[in-house]
Amino acid sequence: MAPGGGWLGGVYPGLMTWMVTGGAGYIGAHIVKSLHDSGYGVVVFDDLSTGEGRKVPDGVPLVEASVLDAVAVEKAMREHNVSGVVHMAAKKAVGESVERPLYYYRENVDGLLSLLEAMDATGVKKMVYSSSAATFGMPDSDDPLAEDYLCQPINPYGETKLIGEWLMRDVATAIGLDWVSLRYFNVAGAGGPELGDTGVFNLIPMVFRALSTGKNPQVFGSDYPTPDGSCIRDYIHVTDLADAHVASVKRLEQGTAAEIYNVGRGEGVSVIEVMDAVRSATGLDFTYDLVDRRAGDPARLVASADKIRTDLGWTAEHDLAAMVTSAWEAWQAAPPD
Ligand code: WQD
Repeated sequence: MAPGGGWLGGVYPGLMTWMVTGGAGYIGAHIVKSLHDSGYGVVVFDDLSTGEGRKVPDGVPLVEASVLDAVAVEKAMREHNVSGVVHMAAKKAVGESVERPLYYYRENVDGLLSLLEAMDATGVKKMVYSSSAATFGMPDSDDPLAEDYLCQPINPYGETKLIGEWLMRDVATAIGLDWVSLRYFNVAGAGGPELGDTGVFNLIPMVFRALSTGKNPQVFGSDYPTPDGSCIRDYIHVTDLADAHVASVKRLEQGTAAEIYNVGRGEGVSVIEVMDAVRSATGLDFTYDLVDRRAGDPARLVASADKIRTDLGWTAEHDLAAMVTSAWEAWQAAPPD
């Protein structure tokens, strides 16, 4: 039986099986697909609060439960012979985190705590943690940010992600866990028409929503100290991000690790440049409105992607045009509610 094919209901004797928490979500489903296509044994653990079972590939078992349920996590780990975890399951809307901090700390911090307890109880010793550029907060730097740049998150979402890195590191030291933390920058695009981002929180889906409802997209702030006055971000295609997880998993299977990596392209793109890319990808000749700044937006947030390239041999392959084109195809195939 080839690795990745079904065997004994998802148990892969002699091969490592990776549990992907949140594996039915937008990013998680891409990670599951990449791991599965690369021949790794995978089991998805997802409460389907925002994930969708249809995104889990055939042959990959889905356990429907919350990571807060430590008993269910432990049971799934034993039943599926899990030897490593990619931990994605979390809440990620910055604005909501400000309104509902208790919810975010419970889901993101308690969720990780419960998972680490189950890993300790079952002897699972390898973990890829889904972190975020939100850990950096409002960096005051024109240069790409290295992983050791000061982390000063400015909202509960970013705080829970940074606390998660500390929690995992401390537990790892105590119980001998190998881990990689991936700090995602601005994730966009889709690996297929059925794998689009259905949560309309980020810039590109917000632009699509405006266009689909006959409104002008909005640029939040045009007086930033950047060449065109709009904010600069580091956009990364979701399939490249998924491949960074495969590279991390491979690294963890080869030996010990305790590393944080930025996952970005190392290239800054302004909001106005994104608008231009959407015009080209959609063929729609729209105008956008320049409106007030949104609170809490740094002028510039760009990754240094040197460390992950040097250590893991990973680099992003897709450019902004590929992100916008694939996102638009997925949006048209299944417009979010
Ligand atoms: C991008 C730029 C907006 C909508 C967030 C999280 C971060 C990470 C990625 C997960 C900003 C501008 C947006 C619009 C606009 N998530 N904008 N008009 O805030 O950079 O990052 O998602 O870890 O942690 O904070 O992403 O997509 O909301 O915004 O002008 O209608 O687009 O002001 O400059 P952000 P975003």
